[in-house]
Amino acid sequence: MRCLLQELTSLLLLGMALAQRQVTVQEGPLYRTEGSHITIWCKVSGYQGPSEQNFQWSIYLPSAPEREVQIISTMDPSFPYAIYTQRVRSGEIYVERVQGDSALLHIMELQDRDAGEYECHTPTTDERYFGSYSAKMKLMVIPDSLRVTSVPQTLNKVERDSLELKCEVSKSTAQHSHLSISWYRQKVGEPPVEVISLSRDFVLRAGSTYAQRQTTGDVRLDKVGETTSKLTVYNLQPSDQGEFYCEAAEWIQDPDKSWYAMTRKRSEGTTVNIQATDKEFSVRLETEKRTYTVGEPVEFRCILEAQNVPERYFSISWAFNSSLIASLGPNAVPILNSDFAQREALGQLKVAKESDNVFVLKIYRLRLEDSGKYNCRVTEREKTVTGDFIDKESKRPKNTPITVLPLKTSISVEMTSNASNVLEGESLRFGCSVRSGFGPQSHLSVTWQLVDKQNRRSDVVRLDRDGTLQPGPSYSERSSYGGIQMEQVRPGSFTLEIFNSVKADEGHYECRVTEWTRTQDGEWQMIGERHASMPVSITALEAGFAVTAISRTPGVTYNESFDLQCIIKPHYPSWVPVSVTWRFQPAGSTEFHDLVTFTRDGGVQWGDRYTSFRTRTAIEKAESSNNVRLSISRASDTEAGKYQCVAELWRKNYNSSWTRLADRTSNLLEIRVLRPGKSPDGQCPGGLELMKVTGLNSLS
Ligand SMILES: *[C@@H]1O[C@H](CO)[C@@H](O)[C@H](O)[C@H]1NC(C)=O
Ligand SMILES: *[C@@H]1O[C@H](CO)[C@@H](O)[C@H](O)[C@H]1NC(C)=O
Ligand SMILES: *[C@@H]1O[C@H](CO)[C@@H](O)[C@H](O)[C@H]1NC(C)=O
Ligand SMILES: *[C@@H]1O[C@H](CO)[C@@H](O)[C@H](O)[C@H]1NC(C)=O
Repeated sequence: MRCLLQELTSLLLLGMALAQRQVTVQEGPLYRTEGSHITIWCKVSGYQGPSEQNFQWSIYLPSAPEREVQIISTMDPSFPYAIYTQRVRSGEIYVERVQGDSALLHIMELQDRDAGEYECHTPTTDERYFGSYSAKMKLMVIPDSLRVTSVPQTLNKVERDSLELKCEVSKSTAQHSHLSISWYRQKVGEPPVEVISLSRDFVLRAGSTYAQRQTTGDVRLDKVGETTSKLTVYNLQPSDQGEFYCEAAEWIQDPDKSWYAMTRKRSEGTTVNIQATDKEFSVRLETEKRTYTVGEPVEFRCILEAQNVPERYFSISWAFNSSLIASLGPNAVPILNSDFAQREALGQLKVAKESDNVFVLKIYRLRLEDSGKYNCRVTEREKTVTGDFIDKESKRPKNTPITVLPLKTSISVEMTSNASNVLEGESLRFGCSVRSGFGPQSHLSVTWQLVDKQNRRSDVVRLDRDGTLQPGPSYSERSSYGGIQMEQVRPGSFTLEIFNSVKADEGHYECRVTEWTRTQDGEWQMIGERHASMPVSITALEAGFAVTAISRTPGVTYNESFDLQCIIKPHYPSWVPVSVTWRFQPAGSTEFHDLVTFTRDGGVQWGDRYTSFRTRTAIEKAESSNNVRLSISRASDTEAGKYQCVAELWRKNYNSSWTRLADRTSNLLEIRVLRPGKSPDGQCPGGLELMKVTGLNSLS
């Protein structure tokens, strides 16, 4: 009462000009959790004296609301009551000056018994008491119910993998409170980096390091249940490596409307190791050697050199002479192309993944046609979020050429022929025999070939390993008429006969003998080939073909005999069909007509005209040549005139048809029949006149 009066007096005396001391303490009631570090602020204004004011804190416990229990003073170390001395001495409870006239009371580990009404008192420095010297507020201590858990683990990831972590956050506070959840990543020796947070007012926000990746969707935080939230990081990067943990805070709104994080807790951490995938890779193709022999195996090894191969996807393809023969996707199932697929089906080759970085192409028994360039191509594939694969970089080493040499055969071949130069129409006979190296294991195939003057090679006939004969395409008809014959006279000895040769049969005859062996899988394998050859020239039938008419009896007198001869050159063998016709043009006529013909098959055919000749004419073909003699007895005027002979050269084709190769017409012979004693007007009596001589030039 006295004080009040004093104050009133001061008021009256000083009027409103003097400021009045005012102590303000943080507004209550404040709800704070047990175990947490709390502060209560207190400030003073309107004071006189030094700017550094002193603060004294007391508590009025709910059990004894009237009784002041002194806690701490900024000026008096003996101020604390016994129950607080230990906590004050240990610094667990202290006052922090913010400014000279404002301070914070800190209680580092709030205890249940710290609940009560707190009073902040500022001992006077004023001349007179004027205003308020203390203020009170209520502190409520509530149990800490916040639970933040995440299963601790160690995850070994690879760059571009995804990471999913869950965090469970719960509380059971009776008062209205909010939660905030944050994920942090911490590397050893570095401060934690915020990944993403859900604020107490439900705003999702990534830390600055992860902001960009949140916008691309690579970083997300989702609620997956009442109390669980899930952090997802797609496309992990090596920099994401570290310990991931979540931290939650429980917030309460203080009477001054500000939000206060009563409790903050972090979960246990998950160690995430991220193996960087070095995008670079290189490919090498290896094979033991470059030269092989037919039947040998070959293995090509395509070796991929890259970081972290098991975690990456690669597809491999194989090429032969630049065309794709096989491919192997990330599932390691090979897909082969036609030829190679067949050989693979027969177990003759294999395309496989030997290990994560070694891929093999194996040919168990090389063939001659396997000579060429081999290569492999490796393409890195990336699995997208949707699970599809997309091709990335592709690499291939240099081509590896290999040569497959034929097996060595020890056979040698000899060829014979019964003539090196024949007349068209004559027959040819060749022999071909394997002279050495021919054993019972040898299987032979023989091909006769002709290399003609134009250097064109054609198969005449071929004898296969199994004994079947096959004429060459251009000989098949001729062969069907028996014009070509091939035989195996005895093992390793063969003949070829060409009957009724034609000019086109001329050239070099080759006998090609191929030696074969059978592989374990029953396939024929060529060991080698040998050949021998011989030339044959063929004289065309019409070469030098010429005809001459001569008379042995130069002068012809009436009633005497005369002879005319038709001479055929060259001297053909009797089997060459030549037909010879004598033609006659009576004196005074202008036309020649056939008198008589020796046909190509030896018959005599008289012409329709000049029947009178028949009774007095003998016609004769020489035994050893095609020459035809015409003998006329008792010459009369009727036989006077011009004579001529015509020869035709024929050949009989393999199919029995006839071809006329050539015809020649002789010179003219003029026969005059003289009456005895009569002189032939200025001409030589019995004269033989060569009106025209044909074919003489080519007579040999
Ligand atoms: C492959 O190429 C080589 C030359 O590089 C060639 O000699 C060979 O005949 C080719 N093989 C095939 C089957 O194309
Ligand atoms: C050559 O052989 C063929 C066919 O066996 C035969 O017709 C021909 O007379 C022979 N030639 C010679 C000059 O022996
Ligand atoms: C012709 O010759 C034959 C005998 O050769 C003879 O008998 C005949 O009388 C002769 N005719 C004339 C006209 O001389
Ligand atoms: C017979 O062979 C010849 C010559 O090769 C040919 O011109 C002719 O058309 C063949 N005739 C028949 C009936 O096949």
